[in-house]
Amino acid sequence: MKKLDKSNITVRQYEALVLICTKHHLENKYPEPQEIKTAMETGSDRELQNCLKALDRKGFINFKIRNGNPIIKLSKEALDESKSLIDKLFVEKKKINYKDLQKKVINKRKDSYVNKFENLFADEKQIELWDLEEEKPNINKKGIIHGWYYYLQEFPNELILNKAKFYNIKEGDIILDPFAGSGTTLVTSKMLGINSIGVETNPLMCFVSRVKTDWDIDIEKFKRIALSILCDLIIATKYLSNLKLESSLLEKIPPMELKQWLKPKLQNQIAYIKQRLSEIKEKKIKNLLFVALCKSMFESSNVALCPGTSFYPLRAKPDFIDAFSSRLSNIYKDLHLVQSKNHYGKATIIQYDSRKMSEKITNNSISLLVTSPPYPNDLEYTRQTRLEMYLLDFVKDMEEVREIKKTMIRGSTKLIFKEDNNAKYVEKFKSVQKVANKIGEELKDKNWGWDYPRMIREYFGDMYLCLKECKKVLKKGAPALFVVGDQTYKNVVIPVGKILAEMGQDLGYEKTDVEFFRMRRSTMHKIPLPEEITVLIK
Ligand SMILES: C[S@@+](CC[C@H](N)C(=O)[O-])C[C@H]1O[C@@H](n2cnc3c(N)ncnc32)[C@H](O)[C@@H]1O
Repeated sequence: MKKLDKSNITVRQYEALVLICTKHHLENKYPEPQEIKTAMETGSDRELQNCLKALDRKGFINFKIRNGNPIIKLSKEALDESKSLIDKLFVEKKKINYKDLQKKVINKRKDSYVNKFENLFADEKQIELWDLEEEKPNINKKGIIHGWYYYLQEFPNELILNKAKFYNIKEGDIILDPFAGSGTTLVTSKMLGINSIGVETNPLMCFVSRVKTDWDIDIEKFKRIALSILCDLIIATKYLSNLKLESSLLEKIPPMELKQWLKPKLQNQIAYIKQRLSEIKEKKIKNLLFVALCKSMFESSNVALCPGTSFYPLRAKPDFIDAFSSRLSNIYKDLHLVQSKNHYGKATIIQYDSRKMSEKITNNSISLLVTSPPYPNDLEYTRQTRLEMYLLDFVKDMEEVREIKKTMIRGSTKLIFKEDNNAKYVEKFKSVQKVANKIGEELKDKNWGWDYPRMIREYFGDMYLCLKECKKVLKKGAPALFVVGDQTYKNVVIPVGKILAEMGQDLGYEKTDVEFFRMRRSTMHKIPLPEEITVLIK
């Protein structure tokens, strides 16, 4: 049997394929070209033909043009596969609103569903407790709390533990992370009993960090609410098998984006949960449930981060109810564990641009700065969290996304704005100019990548401003540690760690150094590249 090529099917091809399979199975016919174009959200015959040709090449359909009309047939190989692609929601137009649905859900609530989930929330005695005082460093390693929301590139909390010990950081000191992301530095510092400050410009990540560092929660109430939500979700999912839930959330997300990320069933479930969670009055519990929702939605979505955003609509993903319930169970168990002691540091999260953070942080107040900043690797951070930002109402349209992008370090060509000119701060650095020129040279005959050299200059200009701000807030003699990976583009190595050290020297740091940290396999270039720690001592 011919093998189907499922590896890089695009969203439009997927939409066309689902329609073909669904029509074939439910109505025993194939869709008209116009129907496929509507599913693909295109008006173009050429795009339709290219899509059908690609599905033919990949083995899913047999496609011919006869007398100017496209003739489509599911291939023998695809017939089995096609059953899993039938999606009634795709063709059904019947809708229900949340109020009517929730009335039905309440009527059907059953204790049996509670039993289904209860073992996920094992009671206190069953949870392994260890001596937190003794094991504070180890608790970090076990992913407790950290695992509620891991971000893109894993930032090892052991590094923070080792460096806090090495630099003799004690209670009363403050650790700063100017690119806090999902809060690894803050959670680790808190567990060590040390106060910390995180600066982060993405509102979603600020929310996540705040939730991950607030452990003062009524956990029994959390369990009760989590159980009732899960039970309602099971019932609602059954009702929604052939109905679409009316939802302002789904309407505001750009349609192509929504289709790329979530299958129709998952769209319905997310829209339901969003409205159901909005009814919860206990704010902290609601926020915890939203963090669990973000990550489980992601786990069950079509998306993989590697590290760019890629869509794999045909890849098997965990069922959403399973993913969501296991996240809630982990949160419950982790909270039980950390609440058995109460001597922790305080974490403060500031939503701000770290290129001007001294406006918000007292000068000469920081004892240790440790961070993993963005790299010049063309990774556009809002892209990875776009759907979650819509889900939690941090943005309502692309204009608001754009405003957030403007506050970010220019590590991606998609983050460059016409008016940007922080490149002026690094004109004097030969190393930056050399790398940017070399990349420009490599690209001169191409009609793409033209903005890459500019991105390199803007990136280092931004980092220059940031290092300047770091120096202001650090105490005299205090270290700033930047975990950075060298990058390559068109075979030109960008020695990020060394360039940051050079800029540190220029800014008058007392001592600068670059330590080897580990080798990292670049997903983009498939070659191992060093990850280093640039150490700047004020
Ligand atoms: C490599 S990630 C940090 C990951 C983090 N170490 C963690 O544990 O999740 C870099 C972060 O910097 C943030 N960022 C980018 N530009 C920023 C800026 N100008 N000010 C503050 N944060 C920024 C991004 O939103 C992203 O969350």
